[in-house]
Amino acid sequence: MGTAEERQRDLWDRTAERYDRLVGPLDRRFMAASRRWIGERAVGEVLEVAVGTGLNLPHFSLDVRLTGVDISAPMLAAARAKADAAGMDARWVEGDAEDLPFDDDSFDTVVSTFAMCGFPDYDKALSEIVRVVRPNGRILLADHVPSTNPVLHLLQKGLEAVTSRANGEYWTRRPLPRLERMGVRIVDAGRLHFGIIEHLHARKQ
Ligand SMILES: C[S@@+](CC[C@H](N)C(=O)[O-])C[C@H]1O[C@@H](n2cnc3c(N)ncnc32)[C@H](O)[C@@H]1O
Repeated sequence: MGTAEERQRDLWDRTAERYDRLVGPLDRRFMAASRRWIGERAVGEVLEVAVGTGLNLPHFSLDVRLTGVDISAPMLAAARAKADAAGMDARWVEGDAEDLPFDDDSFDTVVSTFAMCGFPDYDKALSEIVRVVRPNGRILLADHVPSTNPVLHLLQKGLEAVTSRANGEYWTRRPLPRLERMGVRIVDAGRLHFGIIEHLHARKQ
């Protein structure tokens, strides 16, 4: 069986080769706007946590200095190939979002998209993001969260009962209030698609 982290790594190692094809149509329809929103706000020394196959790369400005971290080597390899093809220089690190291999206050911006829903302990991952971003640095997140529509919210709860056991996927997590409780200031946030997708820009105090 292995630990929850090992199961996640195994899942994403097996999915890496076909990930872009699997999520492509969904991504263009539901996630691309949030990726653009986040890319426009990322500045300076940028860490992307759980960078996956690098679907955010085209949205970053050419002058950011990117570090991508992910638990899955094949996902990282796919991101690296995209960056190389685009002539983008970046650093790639295999590591766990819940125990980031970086010093405190290291980055101007930390980005994470559509990954918080699968971390075994997303409070830990959020604390790590807050730890490694510089004071007044930017935290830019996007994910699926509980819908503002009560019927859809109920469906998400039902779905979560199945997917949390099957592949560790949660549908009712919401990072925004957790960050507020950690003393992080929310600068801006938006919700799309019946409130199911939320993107946010927060600053470490
Ligand atoms: C649904 S994909 C999202 C990828 C990318 N962020 C995106 O927006 O397309 C989830 C990613 O999280 C990574 N991941 C899962 N658990 C992780 C962990 N504990 N630490 C770092 N990365 C993790 C997976 O390897 C995978 O690349």
